[in-house]
Amino acid sequence: MTHLADLPTLSRLIRRIGLPRFIGELAEALHADFLRWPQFQKQARVVNHSPGGVIELMPASDGSRYAFKYVNGHPGNPARGLSTVVAFGVLADVQTGYPLLLSEMTLSTALRTAAVSLLAAWAMARPGARRMAMVGNGAQAEFQALAFHCHLGIDEIHLFDVDPQATARLMRNLAPYPALRLVGCESVVQAVRGADIVSTLTADKRRATILTPDMIEPGMHLNAVGGDCPDKTELHAGILQGARVVVEYEPQTRIEGEIQQMPADFPVLELWRVLAGEAPGRESSTQVTLFDSVGFALEDFSTLRYLHDQLQLHGLGRDIALVPQLADPKDLFSLTRAEVPLPSYTGATDDAAAALAAPDAATAAAGDRGHGARRKPAAGALC
Ligand SMILES: NC(=O)c1ccc[n+]([C@@H]2O[C@H](COP(=O)([O-])OP(=O)(O)OC[C@H]3O[C@@H](n4cnc5c(N)ncnc54)[C@H](O)[C@@H]3O)[C@@H](O)[C@H]2O)c1
Repeated sequence: MTHLADLPTLSRLIRRIGLPRFIGELAEALHADFLRWPQFQKQARVVNHSPGGVIELMPASDGSRYAFKYVNGHPGNPARGLSTVVAFGVLADVQTGYPLLLSEMTLSTALRTAAVSLLAAWAMARPGARRMAMVGNGAQAEFQALAFHCHLGIDEIHLFDVDPQATARLMRNLAPYPALRLVGCESVVQAVRGADIVSTLTADKRRATILTPDMIEPGMHLNAVGGDCPDKTELHAGILQGARVVVEYEPQTRIEGEIQQMPADFPVLELWRVLAGEAPGRESSTQVTLFDSVGFALEDFSTLRYLHDQLQLHGLGRDIALVPQLADPKDLFSLTRAEVPLPSYTGATDDAAAALAAPDAATAAAGDRGHGARRKPAAGALC
């Protein structure tokens, strides 16, 4: 049987575990897989472009498990009442090719993107970073904010979005975390001034220049998430010239990341090397560091692996007859005659819809705890 984790199931799992702890554990799962990077069969994602967006398939395998994610990116969707990014994914057994898990991945993508940003910041941001700027306050933003607040010690975030309602929504959603000071700003310049970390999370299918060199201060760490397609960037090329640039998987980022603006031999470092201690994330307290994030298949592999384990542990989700389980594997034709027996339902999804509207009581109560900057994200969250 294949296990199914739909959105209500995921929502319920997050509430069971607690959002900050979930992000911390996911970051640990990602970290562990980045450290065994050479074991993975890797490739740039398979991309289908259209004028309004992109649809992508992202496969990866460690020889034992195989995973792929289907994900889109349609910046015009919110104007139609739809999400910019939606996704689902599959984890399969390499030995048999049978799918083990079919999971929603819209929510999981936001969580894993925040967890990867956290891993990069852990290795690249200045120790003791407290203030972040966040430009682009859409669907990904709360997850990034909580990852940095609860696991890195960021306690003040300056926000800017061309849509003031997006910023207002983010502030409402994060109100249960009073130790995190949120400041709405009138411009990118105002938001970025004095920040230790600058995260860009805008969605616009063009070569945008959200950040220009005059906004960048010595020692800043830039977490550039929104530029993730050919002809979809957020940073002025002059920023890249002066920065130490870390990427996920170089062949893919050369096509999709901020570095698509640079010559083919522009120097970059892959994140796994930094996490493995082969190279420092930053070389001095004044160096500008840039994580040029586009999203890589290994991250979705790790997420599906983590989800599969947690769903089993918490008894959530349900088995579905997605592929045949036949007494005689050659008698596929029997499925056209006999009624296929339905699997027993093992999960409940009833009360999950509001799971992310507010943290549960325990999480909220813990949200006001004191902070100290931490260099390594861990399952034990600061909030
Ligand atoms: N790197 C990765 O792994 C990864 C993963 C997921 C999403 N993404 C990308 O991150 C971006 C954000 O995704 P989302 O789901 O939050 O999208 P979203 O549409 O929900 O939010 C994007 C926000 O950016 C704002 N915005 C657009 N142009 C702006 C500008 N010039 N200045 C300030 N704000 C601006 C919009 O008003 C909107 O609120 C997208 O580009 C998406 O493709 C990257």
